[in-house]
Amino acid sequence: MKQTYIADVARQAGQEIVIKGWLYNARSSGKLMFLEIRDGSGIIQGVLSKKAVPETVWETAEKLTQESSIIVTGIPREHPKRPGVFELDIAAIELVAVAEPYPITPKDHGIEFLMDHRHLWLRSRRQHAILRVRHEIIRAVRDFFDSNGFILCDTPIFTPAACEGTTTLFEVDYFDDEKAYLTQSGQLYNEATAAAFGRTYCFGPTFRAEKSKTRRHLTEFWMVEPEVAYATLEDTMELAENFLSFIVQRVLENRREELAFLERDITKLEAIKAPFPRLHYDDAVKMLHQGFAEGKLEHKFEWGGDLGAPDETYISEHFDCPVMVHRYPAQVKAFYMEPDAERPELALGVDVLAPEGYGEIIGGGQRMMSLEKLRERIAEHNLPESAFDWYLDLRKYGTVPHAGFGMGIERCVTWICGIEHVRETIPFPRMLYRIRP
Ligand code: 4AD
Ligand code: MG
Repeated sequence: MKQTYIADVARQAGQEIVIKGWLYNARSSGKLMFLEIRDGSGIIQGVLSKKAVPETVWETAEKLTQESSIIVTGIPREHPKRPGVFELDIAAIELVAVAEPYPITPKDHGIEFLMDHRHLWLRSRRQHAILRVRHEIIRAVRDFFDSNGFILCDTPIFTPAACEGTTTLFEVDYFDDEKAYLTQSGQLYNEATAAAFGRTYCFGPTFRAEKSKTRRHLTEFWMVEPEVAYATLEDTMELAENFLSFIVQRVLENRREELAFLERDITKLEAIKAPFPRLHYDDAVKMLHQGFAEGKLEHKFEWGGDLGAPDETYISEHFDCPVMVHRYPAQVKAFYMEPDAERPELALGVDVLAPEGYGEIIGGGQRMMSLEKLRERIAEHNLPESAFDWYLDLRKYGTVPHAGFGMGIERCVTWICGIEHVRETIPFPRMLYRIRP
């Protein structure tokens, strides 16, 4: 008989079906056995009655250990008191493989233990909820750009130069003594594809040799980056707020159950609607000074610096929506940022800070348009001009104002799920002290 996925059992209520999966949990009263079966699409409670099935079926069930693989035949039936919830009256069980004693049991385990067993931990309910939200977000990201005139143009992972500063570069040996770096961002290539196609995006893994052990940093993460020709900082802020509103809306539509399992406060997400507040860096600094005066911040923020995690948290607590902090001092931002025409010491950049203290989820802005100024910046940042010759070409051949941003998928998932740490939002996280499993 053809396999039915647990997610689809409602359609076959009352008919005999076959489920191929694993034993998630079991309890027995001596006459009745309750077997929780999972197949990746969901979990169903199977009910086995000693007197209703042949003895061999009961004996097989008694042999089952947690995570044993099984093929179960039975009839799904709606729970009398819980509409929409199905149970399976089990008629037969085929044992595919008995699992050895499973390391992850229903009791509490420490996080390091769970991370060491990430390849198995992925089978648990919580990880399912988080990774399904991740999938939904990724689907929404693609749908948003695909239906708004953007062309997907993926960018390389081996690159000859730094995009986001030289301190977080992973160097690899390329051929014939040549060095290459794992990409920190597809942006520079996006600028080329945007000049070719108008509106583009790339979406792939990016790498940062982050020496910081925080709950926001991975060394390998997925970033989606749109880039638009003939666009300004203001245009990119508008794009970012529409984009985030769309994503949140989608998750609310399609992943309610998962959010409920994670005990996410849905009202906080329902409040996420464009337009988002915009906060000039100068005003952000005023806000931080106020926070310091009131004893809510430990350090007095100096104008000119980059925002630290406590600063971002403090600012975001003032808003229900993500807040867009714009026009940072050029000195704390990347070399490619267009200066503000009225105050050249400021860069036309924006960071979008998620609410509830989740910090920066998007970074972007308007790109330097002038060939001369870009050359100066590359020199000021001690970057090798030879590695950027092709990038400079973009300013020689039909340069236009252009802008874009990058969003780290894992930061976004962490926020939308309302969880503590970014490490659970990617199947196999890579961090300062972890590249296993
Ligand atoms: O602010 P960042 O460094 O911006 C850029 O890379 C631009 N070139 C993007 C662009 O304009 N096309 O990174 C963008 C986002 C951050 O806001 C954050 O969400 C995520 O990437 N990010 C990280 N996520 C997890 N771990 C890290 N170490 C991250 N570093 C950045
Ligand atoms: Mg940033």
